Amino acid sequence: MNKEELKKWVSVQPKVELHLHIEGSLEPELMMELAKKHSVELPYQSIAEVRQAYDFQDLQSFLDLYYLGASVLIDEDDFYQLMWRYLCQCRADNVVHAEIMFDPQTHTERGIDFSVFMAGFKRAISQAKQEWGQSCLLIMSFLRHLSEESAIDTLKAATPYLSDITAVGLDSSEMGNPPEKFTEVFKMAKALGLKRVAHAGEEGPPAYIWGAVKTLDVHRIDHGVRSIEDPALIEFLVESQHPLTVCPLSNTKLKVFEHMQQHNILTLLDLGLLVTVNADDPSYFGGYLNDNYHALIDNLPIERSQLKQLLINGFKASFLAENLTETWLAEIN
Ligand code: ADE
Ligand code: ZN
Repeated sequence: MNKEELKKWVSVQPKVELHLHIEGSLEPELMMELAKKHSVELPYQSIAEVRQAYDFQDLQSFLDLYYLGASVLIDEDDFYQLMWRYLCQCRADNVVHAEIMFDPQTHTERGIDFSVFMAGFKRAISQAKQEWGQSCLLIMSFLRHLSEESAIDTLKAATPYLSDITAVGLDSSEMGNPPEKFTEVFKMAKALGLKRVAHAGEEGPPAYIWGAVKTLDVHRIDHGVRSIEDPALIEFLVESQHPLTVCPLSNTKLKVFEHMQQHNILTLLDLGLLVTVNADDPSYFGGYLNDNYHALIDNLPIERSQLKQLLINGFKASFLAENLTETWLAEIN
């Protein structure tokens, strides 16, 4: 197959998405519409200006705009719209199952209660399930630039909603905020029966990946591309098969890699790590899940068998029940 044929093929295959921040799917159109609705002042005059501002040097320069953008999300319908539009994109990309992260503290810190965003998310999720059988679950992420005490308060505030939350995660500014800062809250989450994931090794060193695995007892690592710097860690990850949720367009937009041609995803895959492809913050990084696969096809000497392995890995790395995973795997051709 040539590159165009590979792109067409991968686009129609069933896929899962495991690393997606719902706040990072806020498109400039909805951002401007909601800013107008709530009279929120943004430093942009037009949708084009919003897009122009998305020129990042590193993770923090992105996070500053991501939190600013999220300030327009205020009432239940805003959160419904946000989730609904992402789920419609899942349908378009044939993402048959999505494990979606949300950042409660981004909203509770602004005085917006769990009852508001959870109601909006749940309404969209129920509608997508009813209309076309969309499968998804929620991951509640703690902001690592805030204190562990704030994360514990967030976990407590989530108590009435735990039946709708599958896992906890850890995101935001990585450097200087190691996993060990959140040891207690991850222990509490485990005791509550929640699964665990954490961002590690995006900008942070391999020691943060070790910390996430050994101290937070995570099921998956979000990003993890800097694992390549530590041969003992690579050996461990090959053996343990802890999945890495890699986000190619995110990594180039945030300059983890200067160019997609330098991305190490194929090296990690060939070493035997359980690598998956994901979109992270699609509105900010220039594309949804199929766009990420297409960027790999355009820039790397990736073969159909490797694409197929990445698709399979997504299902294997998911929190789907084994029988459902098997059913979906049989549909990849
Ligand atoms: N929050 C949203 N996207 C993120 C990323 N790529 N890394 C850390 N925190 C995030
Ligand atoms: Zn992320």
